[in-house]
Amino acid sequence: MGVVEDINTAAKIINEADAVTLISHIDADGITSEAIVSQALTRAGISVNPVFIRQLEPLTMKHIPKDDTLKIFTDLGSGQQNLLEEAKISADKVIILDHHIAQEAPNGTKYFQVNSQFYGEEYAKCSAAGIAYLLARKISESNKDLAKLAVVGNIGDMMARENCMLTGAAHWIAEDGESAGKVKIVRGINCYGLSTRALHIVLSNSDDPIIPGISGAPQSAIKLLLKTGIYKSQTDTKTFEELNTEEIKILSSALAQQMIANGESPERLIAEIYFFPDETIKTPLRNASEYATMLNACGRWTKPKIGEAVCFGDRGIKYREAEHMLRHHRSIIRELCEYILETGVEDMGSIQAINTGNRYPDTIVGIGAGMALSKLNPDKPILVMCEVSDEPDLLKISMRTYEKVLRRGVDLQEVLVKASAEFNGAGGGHNIAAGAYIPKGCENDFTRRVNELVENQFAAGSKNR
Ligand code: C5P
Ligand code: C5P
Repeated sequence: MGVVEDINTAAKIINEADAVTLISHIDADGITSEAIVSQALTRAGISVNPVFIRQLEPLTMKHIPKDDTLKIFTDLGSGQQNLLEEAKISADKVIILDHHIAQEAPNGTKYFQVNSQFYGEEYAKCSAAGIAYLLARKISESNKDLAKLAVVGNIGDMMARENCMLTGAAHWIAEDGESAGKVKIVRGINCYGLSTRALHIVLSNSDDPIIPGISGAPQSAIKLLLKTGIYKSQTDTKTFEELNTEEIKILSSALAQQMIANGESPERLIAEIYFFPDETIKTPLRNASEYATMLNACGRWTKPKIGEAVCFGDRGIKYREAEHMLRHHRSIIRELCEYILETGVEDMGSIQAINTGNRYPDTIVGIGAGMALSKLNPDKPILVMCEVSDEPDLLKISMRTYEKVLRRGVDLQEVLVKASAEFNGAGGGHNIAAGAYIPKGCENDFTRRVNELVENQFAAGSKNR
């Protein structure tokens, strides 16, 4: 079926439901997906009971109520249909809105899914929040204000990373938000912190691309900003969002010259930025990537409900708690990244691996791995293994890589699904970012097996070229 038919079917099932249980993932895409569906349903007079879980796995299944409500799974479910089948959840009581690679239930139960991976190129880079928005938009055109949350979910799941902008359906959603006055699309620089951080800090933090002489060198960034007249003094702290169009042009061309003078391509310097004009200036809510980090800070530190409240519009007590979560999240992620770089990863041949033990929660090691990778060997996927605090018999695995490695034949989702099944665990995710849980005790054999599978993918990839 096409996406339009599938969205229509989902809307029809929902219209006939008396009550809904909404089961969602704890990251930015999961929280925004939940907030979109939840608001669309509540506005339509349907009662919703939200349940956030860190992943669908045997131990979290108990959080799904055994009742007669319609179960809507957002940002998870497609890869764990085996668990739904095992729990005897009837197919006519389930809608899955997802973008993870689907894995069929072993006994063939056909759960109804709207999954962006089913509908070709236009949808390939549309996260679960994007699918949730298409559904909300079908339920009522007045849900157009929710496009902003869909943009946050898409950016949080890195849907703009490869092309330095949202593409296909995700871009259409951003435009829809713009037409409702909720999103402002601007061509800007491919950096983080454009609403809240001083420009010299933003530039010196840039790692995609690395700007020679500027990345890692805030004083040189100040010099460049003074030379271009963008900064008026050494102590200036102007943000990117405070620049006018002319200043953006001057900055972009100065940075491009800096790249070219050092023999680097300026290609990835410019990116499309998604600002939210109805939020207070100089707050993390003013642009999609900072908003997404705030939601991740809440969800990945077990407070998804605070993130949900922010999505619903709370700018009081819950928002202040979210600000606190964000500060904490940033400092621990920085520490984790430094830990990985200082401890060093083990070069296994085709992957690089590190075990962080019980130092950091399993919900954040993947983010740290992704950030550390930019300062490690970018040609080898990184694997981080850690303990799971409330499940002493389990280990959590997170893997990350880059597009250029995917083009050489690597698929991390395939590797982790296969390897974890061999060790009685379960994994899933995307080709570029995947995760798994495995039983303790097999860590060395598991990592070796992952290395071997990636090695095979590299070998097959080079043959196919
Ligand atoms: O479960 P989920 O897909 O939401 O996990 C999101 C995580 O995967 C994020 O940490 C994000 O960095 C990573 N990811 C990525 N590139 C993608 C999709 C997800 O790095 N294309
Ligand atoms: O946890 P982490 O951010 O590393 O997850 C990366 C991707 O792998 C996410 O999309 C997540 O939903 C997925 N994942 C999964 N099964 C697991 C662990 C993670 O599908 N057991």
